[in-house]
Amino acid sequence: MSLLRYGSLLLLLLLSAQSLGAPRSFSVDYKKDCFRKDGERFRYVSGSIHYSRIPRVYWKDRLLKMYMAGLNAIQTYIPWNYHEESPGQYNFSGDRDLEYFLQLANDIGLLVILRPGPYICAEWDMGGLPAWLLKKKDIVLRSSDPDYIAAVDKWMGKLLPMIKPFLYQNGGPIITVQVENEYGSYFVCDYNYLRHLSKLFQSHLGNKVVLFTTDGASLGYLKCGTIRGLYTTVDFGPGANVTAAFEVQRYAEPHGPLVNSEFYTGWLDHWGSPHSVVSTAMVAKSLNEILAAGANVNLYMFIGGTNFGYWNGANSPYGAQPTSYDYDAPLSEAGDLTEKYFAIQKVIKMYRKIPEGLMPPSTPKYAYGRVAMQRIHTVVSALDKLSYSGPVKSTYPQTFIELGQAFGFVLYRTTLPVDCSAPTPLSSPLNGIHDRAYVSVDGVAVGVLERDIALTVNVTGKNGSQLDLLVENMGRINYGSHINDFKGLVSNLTLGKNILQDWTMYSLSIDQVLSQGLLGQTKTREAPQPPNLSLPTFYEGNFIIPDGIPDLPQDTYIKLPKWRKGQVWINGINMGRYWPARGPQETLFVPAAILSTTALNNVTVLELEEAPRSSDLCYVEFTATPILNATVQSEHKHLKPFSKEGGLGF
Ligand SMILES: *[C@@H]1O[C@H](CO)[C@@H](O)[C@H](O)[C@H]1NC(C)=O
Ligand SMILES: *[C@@H]1O[C@H](CO)[C@@H](O)[C@H](O)[C@H]1NC(C)=O
Ligand SMILES: *[C@@H]1O[C@H](CO)[C@@H](O)[C@H](O)[C@H]1NC(C)=O
Ligand SMILES: *[C@@H]1O[C@H](CO)[C@@H](O)[C@H](O)[C@H]1NC(C)=O
Ligand SMILES: *[C@@H]1O[C@H](CO)[C@@H](O)[C@H](O)[C@H]1NC(C)=O
Ligand SMILES: *[C@@H]1O[C@H](CO)[C@@H](O)[C@H](O)[C@H]1NC(C)=O
Ligand SMILES: *[C@@H]1O[C@H](CO)[C@@H](O)[C@H](O)[C@H]1NC(C)=O
Ligand SMILES: *[C@@H]1O[C@H](CO)[C@@H](O)[C@H](O)[C@H]1NC(C)=O
Repeated sequence: MSLLRYGSLLLLLLLSAQSLGAPRSFSVDYKKDCFRKDGERFRYVSGSIHYSRIPRVYWKDRLLKMYMAGLNAIQTYIPWNYHEESPGQYNFSGDRDLEYFLQLANDIGLLVILRPGPYICAEWDMGGLPAWLLKKKDIVLRSSDPDYIAAVDKWMGKLLPMIKPFLYQNGGPIITVQVENEYGSYFVCDYNYLRHLSKLFQSHLGNKVVLFTTDGASLGYLKCGTIRGLYTTVDFGPGANVTAAFEVQRYAEPHGPLVNSEFYTGWLDHWGSPHSVVSTAMVAKSLNEILAAGANVNLYMFIGGTNFGYWNGANSPYGAQPTSYDYDAPLSEAGDLTEKYFAIQKVIKMYRKIPEGLMPPSTPKYAYGRVAMQRIHTVVSALDKLSYSGPVKSTYPQTFIELGQAFGFVLYRTTLPVDCSAPTPLSSPLNGIHDRAYVSVDGVAVGVLERDIALTVNVTGKNGSQLDLLVENMGRINYGSHINDFKGLVSNLTLGKNILQDWTMYSLSIDQVLSQGLLGQTKTREAPQPPNLSLPTFYEGNFIIPDGIPDLPQDTYIKLPKWRKGQVWINGINMGRYWPARGPQETLFVPAAILSTTALNNVTVLELEEAPRSSDLCYVEFTATPILNATVQSEHKHLKPFSKEGGLGF
């Protein structure tokens, strides 16, 4: 008998011994203030990882590094909108293969704390809720609104039965399941909604599963965030008074394990605000205090990863999060081991045995260098190719959702109804540009409108001149009372005193076109543009992976010096948004797995404002080091570290 067969036989025997003996169990012990796993006192030291922000090929590497840090569990969110992009069309394959992710965690020896939402926050578009819920204009999200509940029931009816075999008591890794997320921070305060979810989860998962809630560690948040039957946990960051924070949990749960479900290892970023950095010493000190208190903890994030494509969220007043979700976490965006990683491991080691064995190294990066870029099409000149469904006409502008589009860009077109020989204000009096509009008149760029920031631009032109606004959805608000975040032109535009009418709107399928290589290459004539702004334009370049260097392709970062703002695709895959003109992120993570060693690698850039004009400077550059902390051009007021609202906090 081979060793392998002997091994699996042994495993089978062990498994059946287990199933014959004490069944696997996981529960809250209210007498001894702890969790119990298979009857034994148990405490978790967990870390957050979002599979939706990491390419599948790297899941194992990242999980292994988490295991080697001394964690015995991971925590992950399930973004509903990632799995059900249109109603009833589910995707659980490739990078969205949740079952494979859970199986990997299990095989590596990590338990799982699952956070299936339906709302997850997470700095993820609309907090994970699908934008199509907004088809009902006045829907009250995260409440007992019947249409919302019907959609939730259907989704959970698909998701939870898939999860059930992975519950700990069923032989899988999932020890606890969170219901909703920080519901106490939401204005609606609908206990019936929480009760409905609680029953729904139990009806699918059985009544043995430990269900819990998470809220900020202050009584104000617990008020609407907790109900009986769901175990109350809290979240707080380094520097908090740990004793005081757990006293808040004790107010709701006089007995049972202490749990910090989100202990912040870093913090999120916004375009235009300095990169968040949280000191390693502070993280280590507070983690030590939490573990010394005998508490369970989840480090949020242990690895942040990347908001590929259009998946980033935003905060209100409108401030979008960048493509990188590095989070200053112990494992970098690219999965590299940092000083913070080893400091955390050292603290954990005082409380738990650290696994022995080889630490998977940081993955090597390669600087492929500069790639010259050529202008191929303006968006307008490629409209026929980009707009599959053709234009839609209506008197007043329609939103993305009315047009049946969730993400990306829509072109809104009308004509000037009067002569504007003098500069005439084109305005969005109700702040309805969601989120940024690149404005042109008769093919000449005239300015940029931006939600909350720039609501008026002067235009000149003749009666009948063509007015185009390419409107960018920069990511839906994921937190607070404004998550019903409609995109596009969500209210009327005025020109002088006139409300603009008779719109022609083009839904753009840029991602489908680029993934099928259908954009093609025609140089089109373009009217001369003003000195500092151009029409939104596609650029293309390509590069080959050099021969004779071992272990290529490797991961890399793309940098766009002197470019302003846009979106970048490599081999038709959407890498995310760049905006070096605003900062702080300057490089985008590019995983090796999307690069080809046999074909030319294609880089496509949609520059929305202005590419470098001189052809010497019209290049992108692949580098080996990330830059996430460049200086910012304009600073907005945003959430303070670890605080859930402007002034409130811990
Ligand atoms: C499902 O998601 C995977 C991973 O993002 C993607 O490769 C695949 O094309 C998607 N399938 C469908 C049918 O959209
Ligand atoms: C932390 O909170 C506890 C309990 O509320 C209090 O007794 C203690 O003084 C606080 N410590 C500090 C340093 O503020
Ligand atoms: C603008 O042109 C349209 C179509 O030619 C015409 O009907 C309209 O009266 C003109 N408006 C003004 C204010 O000149
Ligand atoms: C538009 O033009 C008017 C008149 O020239 C000027 O007063 C105003 O500041 C301009 N507005 C913008 C937003 O440029
Ligand atoms: C635009 O204005 C028209 C006429 O006042 C009004 O009926 C319509 O509701 C407005 N549309 C939006 C989206 O505000
Ligand atoms: C272009 O320059 C004009 C005049 O200096 C300025 O008003 C405008 O904001 C600039 N546009 C951009 C996108 O920087
Ligand atoms: C890049 O584009 C060329 C031309 O369309 C195509 O032949 C090639 O396969 C593409 N490369 C990759 C890696 O998709
Ligand atoms: C950015 O981070 C790097 C690496 O941590 C550091 O060396 C550099 O000084 C930082 N730059 C800025 C502008 O903060």
